[in-house]
Amino acid sequence: MTIRFILNDREVTRDRFSPSETLLDYLRLERRLTGSKEGCAEGDCGACTVLVGRLTRGRLVYETVNSCIRFTASLNATHVVTIEHLAAKDGALHPVQQAMVDMNGSQCGFCTPGIVMSLYALWMENEKPSRRAIEKGLQGNLCRCTGYEPIIKAAETASATRPDAAFDAIARERDSVMTQLAAMKSDETIVIGDATSRAIIPGSATALADVLAEYRDATIVAGSTDVGLWVTKQMRALNPMVFINHLEELQTITETEKSIIIGAGVTYTEAFPALAKAIPAFARLIDRIGGEQVRNMGTIGGNVANGSPVGDTPPALIALNATLTLQSQNGTRSIALEDYFLDYGKQDRRPGEFVLSLTVPKPALDAHYAVYKVSKRREEDISALCGAFCLQLTADGTVEKIRIAYGGMAGTPKRAPHVEAALAGKPWTSETVEAARPAFESDYQPMTDMRATAAYRMLAAKNLLSRLLLETGGSQQELIRFEREEA
Ligand SMILES: Cc1cc2nc3c(=O)[nH]c(=O)nc-3n(C[C@H](O)[C@H](O)[C@H](O)COP(=O)(O)OP(=O)(O)OC[C@H]3O[C@@H](n4cnc5c(N)ncnc54)[C@H](O)[C@@H]3O)c2cc1C
Ligand code: FES
Ligand code: FES
Repeated sequence: MTIRFILNDREVTRDRFSPSETLLDYLRLERRLTGSKEGCAEGDCGACTVLVGRLTRGRLVYETVNSCIRFTASLNATHVVTIEHLAAKDGALHPVQQAMVDMNGSQCGFCTPGIVMSLYALWMENEKPSRRAIEKGLQGNLCRCTGYEPIIKAAETASATRPDAAFDAIARERDSVMTQLAAMKSDETIVIGDATSRAIIPGSATALADVLAEYRDATIVAGSTDVGLWVTKQMRALNPMVFINHLEELQTITETEKSIIIGAGVTYTEAFPALAKAIPAFARLIDRIGGEQVRNMGTIGGNVANGSPVGDTPPALIALNATLTLQSQNGTRSIALEDYFLDYGKQDRRPGEFVLSLTVPKPALDAHYAVYKVSKRREEDISALCGAFCLQLTADGTVEKIRIAYGGMAGTPKRAPHVEAALAGKPWTSETVEAARPAFESDYQPMTDMRATAAYRMLAAKNLLSRLLLETGGSQQELIRFEREEA
């Protein structure tokens, strides 16, 4: 009943700790590794960024995570690398650190350790990152005083500096870390704590079903990018917490001729390549979710299971007619995803069930599939609304089929049956779209909150349908799309 992981160059065994202890608190308060900072404690600013390495499909993969919302209990058989591990023993800076010094990439320094860890992850994975790749690598790191230009220059400079691999701690230790992590992996269920405060780490999906049958009030924790905030911001006491982010049975992506089956434990980062190939518009949406750290931790399964009306993937998936498969001790059942969302905060997940996978049909080759996220910032922002469309036209330009779903327009992610009916069988023209716009008012009564007013949401929702028309209407539109992508 212990978890084991490697922290920098030391193996750690832990048995008595709170299930809701965050990695950042453990590093700073217990290990006095105070390089990682606490800025926001909600996954937004990246000041707490560390790397977590794990064995996946026979590879040792290191990813940036926000340690402020990552729970220590989720770290079994991982390698945690903090900023303290980068410089050489004699104090010589790592090329990424040196480049930050040389390019004046730091002023007050509060964001700097997190930024260095994000640049380090990029340096490791991408020998010659483009400007776009660097910006993407920094999406989850906020700097209030330096500004990003010197930091981007540091990334470019560091990529040109690749001394002997022996210089880099992770490269040097890779083989021995792989052996250590393989020995730490366990298919036994681990239980930490007692009845008042318990973390359960099931050894398999079947064991997860058994745990959920026994503990009906359990909170499942996947990537903890939602649950983490329930602890750090809402101070909720969750008991027991059941950790599933290590379960390989939930991390499979299977592609068939007609669909992609995504395990509930697949992170955004892992899902991206398959989606980029099969459903590019969906992949572009993923690029707009959180920052790199959130995408490395967060799962599509968690986004759906959470049931938030402003979660980004549910409308995108409903427009594709995705199916959700749930598992319990009684076996599995599959339902149309749109039927999962019953009401605000209420989903069709029965006691003892967990989300096993999502089956996502690939849009027909001649279908127009589009997802538009509207938020105040391009990165690290929750949608005010998000509209998704799957449009099939006949050869003469008549609407043969259209599925439309929105987030942020109701208490749940929701289809637009009246708008769909107003378009079906009609020519795909501006007159048809104009005539269909009032039908939005029959489908949705959005609310006003800090992200947008009800009136803004309604107008923007109607405009997204007009945008779909503009983008699917001919060569002029290809130009618009091209220009937008270039921008
Ligand atoms: C900084 C930041 C930015 C974000 N940006 C976005 C954004 O742009 N768009 C967006 O949609 N979301 C965003 N989020 C929210 C969050 O990242 C997503 O909802 C994410 O997909 C949640 O997945 P997770 O694995 O982290 O879930 P967790 O936090 O682990 O769990 C979320 C919920 O799902 C349940 N759950 C998880 N897995 C299962 C399962 N297999 N079966 C049953 N229940 C399960 C949990 O019990 C919990 O109720 C952001 C979060 C942060 C912190
Ligand atoms: S402290 Fe801001 S992301 Fe963790
Ligand atoms: S250097 Fe001050 S916040 Fe970035």
